[in-house]
Amino acid sequence: MLKEKILKILNKQVNEELFSSYLYLSMSAYFSSINFEGFAKWMSLQSKEEYEHAMKIYNYILQRDGKVTLTKIETPKTSWSSALNVFQETLKHEQHITACIHNIVNMAIQEKDHATTNFFQWFVTEQVEEVATAGSILEKIKMIGDSKNGLFILDRELGQRQ
Ligand code: FEO
Repeated sequence: MLKEKILKILNKQVNEELFSSYLYLSMSAYFSSINFEGFAKWMSLQSKEEYEHAMKIYNYILQRDGKVTLTKIETPKTSWSSALNVFQETLKHEQHITACIHNIVNMAIQEKDHATTNFFQWFVTEQVEEVATAGSILEKIKMIGDSKNGLFILDRELGQRQ
């Protein structure tokens, strides 16, 4: 059985991951609206991944005989000034999620909940990858600068994500 404190923070993380999914779907819609279909596809796949993160935690709560409590999902932004702006915010958001995950692990260690500490190691590793990926796309966009051609090539590259 999960301690109340842990259950509360896990349910909060389900909401954080669902919001991430919603945010990236909104970014995908933004990219579609400006005809960047590669960026849009990349974001839509990212959105699906976030939904899977939410469901991993959802199922873990159930496995530990906890009650999943879904709460209101914040409305995401619907428009950005550029691809650069989108990826600046993506990186910032992933840094926020990393902090949330570390917070959960710190609490699990403090509460001597070894199962939760262990379960969240996957997320700790995943966050290293998520931050690195967002950071590397952001760096590419910065290098491209104002080159329409460069953005077109990156759009094609991101569209190849499976
Ligand atoms: Fe589920 Fe991108 O963190």
